[in-house]
Amino acid sequence: MRTPIVVGNWKMNTTPTLASKLGKAAGELATKHSGRVDVGVAPPSIWLERVQQVAGEHLGVFAQSCSEHESGAHTGEISANMIALAQVGGVILGHSERRHVYGETNEAVAAKVSAALDEELSVILCVGEKLEERDAGQTWDVIEAQLDGSIEDGTEPDGIIVAYEPVWAIGTGRTATSAQAQTVHAQIRDWWRTNFGDQAADALRIQYGGSVKPANAAELLSMPDIDGALVGGASLDAESFAAIVAAARG
Ligand code: PGA
Repeated sequence: MRTPIVVGNWKMNTTPTLASKLGKAAGELATKHSGRVDVGVAPPSIWLERVQQVAGEHLGVFAQSCSEHESGAHTGEISANMIALAQVGGVILGHSERRHVYGETNEAVAAKVSAALDEELSVILCVGEKLEERDAGQTWDVIEAQLDGSIEDGTEPDGIIVAYEPVWAIGTGRTATSAQAQTVHAQIRDWWRTNFGDQAADALRIQYGGSVKPANAAELLSMPDIDGALVGGASLDAESFAAIVAAARG
């Protein structure tokens, strides 16, 4: 049995006060559902320490990105090593906003994934197709190319969680139907099986992301290959986030 994992991706939102409030509420949720649902949050990096202070022992805390480089002249970046030294447990990588707004290539994502895994961080690796790619029947081709390109040969996959986030469903209020999501999740698990074997594929947790809210979470999370959610907008409201976590518990 895979433990579902629900992570709130706060993106570039929150104030210090709100970050502490949401972090504390998420920490309480993590404690309440401990052993049944893994709960995490990904605050802006400037609030990571603040959130850790109120998180309690069960909340997963994630950075939203990291550099592929170890150190040096990379203004604005933080390294995987810094994240690990700050005792932050994981990092979101390859988010569509990073890929499509900031031009992160698969090669860059792959280097970041390796850098993060080398530091023993958990990685939430995001993949997802754009609307025109879905409409052109290219959904799986795009996801497969992202998986092939974002994980370097020889990678030990145990630290990776995959998040399937159709780009057209992010922040738009449009959700993939549970059947559409399940189809892609099953294909991702098959890809994992081919590349990493049965045990790794059966253990892989695949989150769905894209306009997850209390009203649609239970149905999405009831699908056999949907093992959690990466939640943007709804994670900025403590009650909504709590309802989504409760839906993951089933
Ligand atoms: P959303 O964002 O829930 O606001 O659609 C999800 C994400 O981008 O991780």
